This record gives sequence, structure tokens and C-alpha cells, in this order.
Amino acid sequence: MPLHQTIQHDAKTQILVWNITESLIDLFDSANVTDQSLFRIGNMKSESHKRGFLAVRMLLQHAGYTDHDLYYDAFGKPHLRDGTHISISHSHEFSAVILSDKITGLDLELRREKIALIADKFIEPSFVLDKTAPDYINKLTVNWGVKEAVFKVCNEKGISFKDHINVEPFDMADRKTTAHLHFKDVKRQFSVFFEEIGDYSLVYLFEV
Ligand SMILES: CC(C)(COP(=O)(O)OP(=O)(O)OC[C@H]1O[C@@H](n2cnc3c(N)ncnc32)[C@H](O)[C@@H]1OP(=O)(O)O)[C@@H](O)C(=O)NCCC(=O)NCCS
Repeated sequence: MPLHQTIQHDAKTQILVWNITESLIDLFDSANVTDQSLFRIGNMKSESHKRGFLAVRMLLQHAGYTDHDLYYDAFGKPHLRDGTHISISHSHEFSAVILSDKITGLDLELRREKIALIADKFIEPSFVLDKTAPDYINKLTVNWGVKEAVFKVCNEKGISFKDHINVEPFDMADRKTTAHLHFKDVKRQFSVFFEEIGDYSLVYLFEV
């Protein structure tokens, strides 16, 4: 049952990452899910999605919660009944959650060369990139992860990753940057943190 990594970001914020090596049956036996979760799992087509979903319940257990403490709003955004902010992501063999007293979003992405094929659909013109640099894919993946995480916080129809969210330029070694959402006359700013876990990029952010 591998809890892969815990990041204690500050006294009231932790990020937990699960490496999904268990079978679906083993996860089912341990995850203690609600009827609503059972219903959702029943509608999931891929085994990998089911395992990712169940691994999140394992992470909740590690943090002292059960699936009964979690509910979703009409947009699919997760909430904890005690008011702790939560954000969830799963990607292939990993699932991750962030739990915080602050408004937060998290995204986990497998780094893949093919992200370059869609870069012009989500990279804003102000985000300077050197396509020949060895960390080109790393930076693209972080930029994408930031936008997914901002979207998980803001959760509004019509937000364009390219036109409404911008990420301040960073070096990979910085492991942090700032992002801005400017949508319908509303401006929101986020402190962004990122880590690389093997072939995966983990991005999490807080509204400031
Ligand atoms: C909602 C969205 C951000 C999820 O991201 P994803 O990479 O597909 O999947 P992840 O594994 O990272 O995240 C899934 C989790 O996000 C959470 N989530 C789903 N909808 C959400 C919402 N509206 N708000 C906040 N969180 C949400 C859920 O917890 C979900 O996992 P769970 O249902 O198993 O608990 C994504 O599907 C989406 O709609 N993105 C915006 C698309 C877009 O504008 N693209 C522009 C391309 S240029």
C-alpha cells in the first residue's frame, strides 16, 4: 500500500501522493467507499481510472479522513465536510491530493513529448520558451499543470487557458512561480509551487 510521498508545505497544508501498484480488488478491499463512490466507479470505463479514484480514498485515510467526509458540488469539485480545502488529481500510476486551510488547486501530469503538439493552444504569448532547451517539455508541462490547477480553483465556464491564465516565467530550479487569472473583469493571483516526481510534474497553488 504505497504512500509514495508526503509534502508538508506548511503547518496546515499537506500534499499526499500515492503510487498505484495495487490491484483493483485490493484497493476496493481497503478503500471503504460510500454508495455514491460505488455508483461513480460503476460508471468508469477504465480500470486505471477506477484505481486512481480508489487510491485517492487511500490518501484520505492517511490524512485521517474517510470517503464519507468528501462530497462533490454540481461542477464535480470536491469538498471536505470540515471545511478543509481539497484538490485531487490522478495520472496513470499516481494519485495526489492537497489538503489545506487555504484555497488551493493541484494537478499531477505525466510528462510527455506530445504536449508540444498542443502548446500553441494553451501557452500565452508572454510565456517565453526556448523550444531547443532540454527542459522545454518540463516547462510546458508545468504551465499546463498550473492552468489545470487554476481551473480547479475557479471552476468557471468560458475560461481559456491561453487567453485568461498567465504564468510568470520561471526556471525549473525555482520550483515556484506566480500565476494570474484575468477573466470577465475579475483578477485573481496564485502562488504556484511545483515538483518533479519521476516522470510526473506536480503543481499546486494557493490564491493570494
Ligand atoms: C476538471 C479538470 C480540471 C480535471 O482535470 P484532469 O486533468 O482531467 O483530471 P485530474 O485527474 O487532474 O483531476 C480530476 C479531479 O479534478 C476534480 N474536479 C473535477 N471537476 C472539477 C471542477 N469543476 N473543479 C474543481 N475540481 C474538479 C475531481 O476531484 C476529479 O477527480 P475525482 O472526480 O476522481 O475526485 C479538467 O477535466 C477540465 O475540465 N479542464 C479544463 C479544460 C480546458 O479548459 N481545457 C483548455 C485546453 S486549451
